[in-house]
Amino acid sequence: MKKLLRLISFVCIFALLVMAGACAEKPSETTVPVGTTTSKSVETTPNAGDELIVVGFAQCKADESDWRMANTKSMQETLSEANGYKLILADSNNDAAKQVADVQGFIDQEVDYIVIAAVNMDGWDTVLTNAKNAGIPVILMDRTINASADLYTCWVGSDFKAEGVKATDWISTRFTADQEVNIVNLQGQLGASAQIGRTEALEDAVAANSNWTLLAQQTGEWSTDTAKEIMASWIQRHGDKINVVYAENDNMADGAIQALEEAGMKVGGDDGVAIISFDANRAYLQMTLEGKINCNVECNPLHGPKVAQIIQTIEGGGSPAKVEVVEEAAFYYDTITQEIVDARAY
Ligand code: AHR
Repeated sequence: MKKLLRLISFVCIFALLVMAGACAEKPSETTVPVGTTTSKSVETTPNAGDELIVVGFAQCKADESDWRMANTKSMQETLSEANGYKLILADSNNDAAKQVADVQGFIDQEVDYIVIAAVNMDGWDTVLTNAKNAGIPVILMDRTINASADLYTCWVGSDFKAEGVKATDWISTRFTADQEVNIVNLQGQLGASAQIGRTEALEDAVAANSNWTLLAQQTGEWSTDTAKEIMASWIQRHGDKINVVYAENDNMADGAIQALEEAGMKVGGDDGVAIISFDANRAYLQMTLEGKINCNVECNPLHGPKVAQIIQTIEGGGSPAKVEVVEEAAFYYDTITQEIVDARAY
């Protein structure tokens, strides 16, 4: 009903403008690169009336990792009341079934938009069909899902496999073809597209290099403590045979480093156990600068400005790009600088 009233008021205003001979200009679209540090640089077109645009945001687990906290903060800073939005955050606590229920709850509340950072790639068809039937645009952010493309408006996020290839390319430069490369893989939460893409890149590289061995693989649930426990058991089992840790986010890399150092093993640098990480949060880029992390591949969490731009495009009658892959870099212990670390927005 609310959407119908908004549509009628929009048509009336448009008709009045046409009759007055004014040309109704499409609100200027703001190209906002992901990674903008504050919502101040987002030229959002505040809602024509005094009505806020209601956005239901289905987040994985708001405090699960440094990355996730930066992602949540970016959404809250950008989709603020001052910018013309009412943001309703639902935290699924990384429970895929609960997240689907959270989205159904947004549909029942008749929100204007739904944004999803998906815990798991699967299980979305029914609830997204309900959203489509309710006429609520669904914006996928960060993670991708296995669902028909007509069930969501667009996706903005990272190419996780490409991130993994950046990491395995670095491993190839670290070791010669006649050196044994013995890797342990701390995976993200199983079923998340970030985990699937990064793991796939590693497994492809292991298959392509006869001197590479994947000694052990287990999910550390994106968590420092869980990763530390797993790493300690791997050290017990494999000892100093391990010469690469491929951790699928910064928090798990930190846990692995703690376990290695407590076992008296040299970490990072030119001749320690090589540490691969993903996210490039500032605190862990500092560890990269200190040589504890050798290769840190960026995964940009600051999606708020991009999501706001997508909503404004739709509000202005436009169609956003179906897929928007954010540009991301990689940082290395032997080339990163303090300036780069200090300039990080998160
Ligand atoms: O989807 C991005 C991933 O989710 C980040 O790499 C990780 O830290 C977070 O849990």
